Amino acid sequence: MSDLTDRLQQLQTDALAELAAAADGDAVDALRASLFGRSGRLTQLLRGLADIDAAERPATGKLANTVRDTLEEAIRGRMAALTEAAAGSRLAGEALDMSAPGRPWRVGHLHPTLTVERDLREIFHAFGFEVFEGPEIETDAMNFEALNMPPDHPARDLWDTLYVAEPGVDPPQPAADGTILRTHTSPAQIRAMQALRPPIRVITPGRCFRYEAVDASHGFEFFQAEGLVVDHDTSLVDLKGMLEEFARALFGEATRTRFRPGYYPFTEPSVAFDVSCLVCGGSGCPACGRSGWMTILGAGMVHPSVLRAGGIDPDEFQGYAFGMGLDRITLLRHGIPDLRLLMSADLRFLEQFPAGR
Ligand code: DAH
Repeated sequence: MSDLTDRLQQLQTDALAELAAAADGDAVDALRASLFGRSGRLTQLLRGLADIDAAERPATGKLANTVRDTLEEAIRGRMAALTEAAAGSRLAGEALDMSAPGRPWRVGHLHPTLTVERDLREIFHAFGFEVFEGPEIETDAMNFEALNMPPDHPARDLWDTLYVAEPGVDPPQPAADGTILRTHTSPAQIRAMQALRPPIRVITPGRCFRYEAVDASHGFEFFQAEGLVVDHDTSLVDLKGMLEEFARALFGEATRTRFRPGYYPFTEPSVAFDVSCLVCGGSGCPACGRSGWMTILGAGMVHPSVLRAGGIDPDEFQGYAFGMGLDRITLLRHGIPDLRLLMSADLRFLEQFPAGR
């Protein structure tokens, strides 16, 4: 046996072992090139056939062919096996287990104050009101002056105000242009009158801010909704009828109501509007201070100066307005004792009010 015969056999043994160790298609390709390439190991051995004895050449040539065929076949087989394995593991990774239980889908719900706001929108929508929203950052002119409270008017003390600071001034002082955080939604009345023409029927829900010492019934951030109607021949009778219907729609048909005299600079006359106690129904309990009544909003006939500030001629049109605290109504609706809970973002509290009512 010639030296070449040994080397052919050895190459086959080595190559098959290397092939078995090839981990992926790239390794197999590299091995193929190292055997069959122009200067590949098998290519070089085959060149050696020309130099051996003519007598040995047929047998050695036959062996060389066998080695070549064996290696080619083995490489094809290994490549196919590797490709199949790769596809298999990709499929396994993408597999969808149709029998697996579904992942629980956490469904939230509206905050109870927002539910009150939505109910309000719905009720007033039925009465033909549209929603008109004003900005949370307001001007002194809108929040006070246009509402019949010139600078130094004593009624301003009813609304402790958070001022936006003048930029770059130390110590801080109120912005010279009168930028403030609105203390009530009433400035949206002015904006509605300026933007719309009578007949006007709007509600203006939104967030308000006051410089308050926070306790069980006061927050520095809270929600209100304002109602405004401007039309020919609008009277206190219309206001009373509207508020009675509203109270029954929001709190139930059995709700009784009453007007008491009140004071606001932007309405004349002004009233406080009470509903029969939502806890005891009117017989008197701690929640209503044993009076049987709860005050839910302030209202009145829009003051002529306020109509004028809104660009409306008070000799031609009259209007009524009302404003209420949505947080307070939320507390009353659910018998919640402390306003601070509403802003606590505590799910143990909030999850008790899934439907709002
Ligand atoms: N803006 C008042 C407040 O914050 C509430 C209010 C009272 C609004 C009477 C009105 C109104 O529109 O007519 O206390």
